[in-house]
Amino acid sequence: MKQLVLFLGLLFLTQGLCQNDNNKKKSVSNNQLKRLLILLQIVVEENENSDQSLIPWLKDANEKLRKIHENEAYMEFQYETDINDENAQKLNDAGVKAAEVIKIVVSEARRLLRDNPDVDGDAKRQLQRMALDDTPLDSNLVSQLQKIHSDLESIYAKAVIKKDGKTFRMEPELSQIMAKSRDLDELKWAWQGWRDVTGPQMKNLYKELVRITNTSAVENGYTGGRKETWLLNQFGSTENLKNQFQNLWRELKPMYQLLHAFVRKRLKSFYRNKYPGYIFPDDGTIPAHLLGNMWAQQWNNILDVVKPFPNVKTPDVDTALKHRYPKPKDLFQLAEDFYTSIGLYKMTPKFWNGSMIVRPDDREVQCHASAIKMCTEINKDYLETIHHEMGHIEYFMAYRNQPEVYRDGANCGFHEAIGDTIALSVMTRKHLKTIKLIPNKKSFNEHEMDMNFLMEEALSKVAFLPYGYLIDKWRWDVFSGRIKPEDYNKSWWNMRIHYQGVSPPVSRSEQDFDPGAKFHIPADSPYICYFFQFYETLCKESGHSGPLHTAMLELGASKPWPDTLEMFTGSREINAKSIIQYFRPLMTWLKNQVSENEIGWQDN
Ligand code: ASP
Ligand code: SER
Ligand code: ZN
Repeated sequence: MKQLVLFLGLLFLTQGLCQNDNNKKKSVSNNQLKRLLILLQIVVEENENSDQSLIPWLKDANEKLRKIHENEAYMEFQYETDINDENAQKLNDAGVKAAEVIKIVVSEARRLLRDNPDVDGDAKRQLQRMALDDTPLDSNLVSQLQKIHSDLESIYAKAVIKKDGKTFRMEPELSQIMAKSRDLDELKWAWQGWRDVTGPQMKNLYKELVRITNTSAVENGYTGGRKETWLLNQFGSTENLKNQFQNLWRELKPMYQLLHAFVRKRLKSFYRNKYPGYIFPDDGTIPAHLLGNMWAQQWNNILDVVKPFPNVKTPDVDTALKHRYPKPKDLFQLAEDFYTSIGLYKMTPKFWNGSMIVRPDDREVQCHASAIKMCTEINKDYLETIHHEMGHIEYFMAYRNQPEVYRDGANCGFHEAIGDTIALSVMTRKHLKTIKLIPNKKSFNEHEMDMNFLMEEALSKVAFLPYGYLIDKWRWDVFSGRIKPEDYNKSWWNMRIHYQGVSPPVSRSEQDFDPGAKFHIPADSPYICYFFQFYETLCKESGHSGPLHTAMLELGASKPWPDTLEMFTGSREINAKSIIQYFRPLMTWLKNQVSENEIGWQDN
């Protein structure tokens, strides 16, 4: 490792990293020197690796944790790819068994930290990560909680709308309607129908989940309840986090508002044309069912309505994909090719044989994509998702030699960012030409095509920002008790309106539980990670293929994330500069399309 890091450091000095500007300098900048020094520091720290006496204990504890995590992950995979009572029970048993082992390791780790106040360095970090735990102390509660989790997941996975003898599932039927339909009744039907068959069945279970998890966090000594343990788990510390999120959002908001104003204007004229007399909300919000996505989280599917240059044809990548890569497996291979071409790992035979990449028709499964299961359809959205999920696997493989407590992202945003950053390079017009998904010829209107393309990116990345922020903002308030169960839905819509400027197309009440219509709520899976991706990497250059990046992936969670980030980008804080710069040409164009008084909505 040491030689490797030094070698990489030197290599890095000669390379220059992607800063998303056009004048990449080959000479050694202060910033680069600084980053090399950080690398060297990491090596030195490893050398000085603290208290040797704890090493055998740590080794043993890591191994115990590895085994139970592996077993749990396996049982979870079994359950999610074949949802039935028997598999739920097996998962439950695995959870109870895991909790017993975890409890012992955790209390030992806490004791060792108390008894060895001088312990420092890596041993301390490992102990602290092991001690961080909010598993209920009572094994009946562990089992109860496990059952709530599997019930919630099952409701989401099995939800369907039935109409005229036909069954509409989220994937693929409903997501396709939301993406492609421009029929107001149909969109409203799908939007409302999905919420009717998910949230209401979940509300009481969710309330219980919040109660139990908060209680057990407090029992474990975290006075801030589950909000605290969540943030500690995701970011290693709660210090200054709220401010960082807030600042980031403040920097990003003007860009979102501009996009929102333009999209609203176009949608309004489109639907008024199609449905004379159709009334758009007068508070400046956009009806949530018109944005091409069930949750209004990414808007790329309405590119046809909001394209800057509507007369310039957009290459039909979906059709080209179906033609050139007719099987789901082909898309995975395409993604793997890209990863290996930049020096990352091939998927293993176990991946190819064991993953679920299409929806089986003989059993119930959880279709929401994760690293080793999804219900692939051949289109651009899934191609991006495949890159996203494979990014997780690449990270898993890179940190596989770390002790178990470090087999994780530097923070959870790193984990989410890998695949998306790669996908960004894959989805460029240049690369799509290389892999023959769009015609490889120069057209006379390159500028217009670029602008349309940038709009497509903005519809998926910029539109996503407030959504990525608000889901956990809502959950933190729910966990902390600021939001009471009787206000779950009202508070949800307050945030949807406040941050996203979207409004429900039909009236909502506390009989509804609209957060439950989104996978990550019933799955109890953190969301801020999608917001907190390191935007510094949002660049088109192939800079991220550098060996430095591999070294960063290999570190896993073994260093505090600001260290890892600094080594990677030169900065200890996430900032919005790169994403703003990336979209600047589009934003400049948009500014001329809307007037000041068209920007914003009531309550923003
Ligand atoms: N599992 C990923 C997400 O939830 C990608 C997806 O949405 O399919 O982040
Ligand atoms: N994959 C995440 C989601 O589905 C973020 O895009 O919400
Ligand atoms: Zn992910």
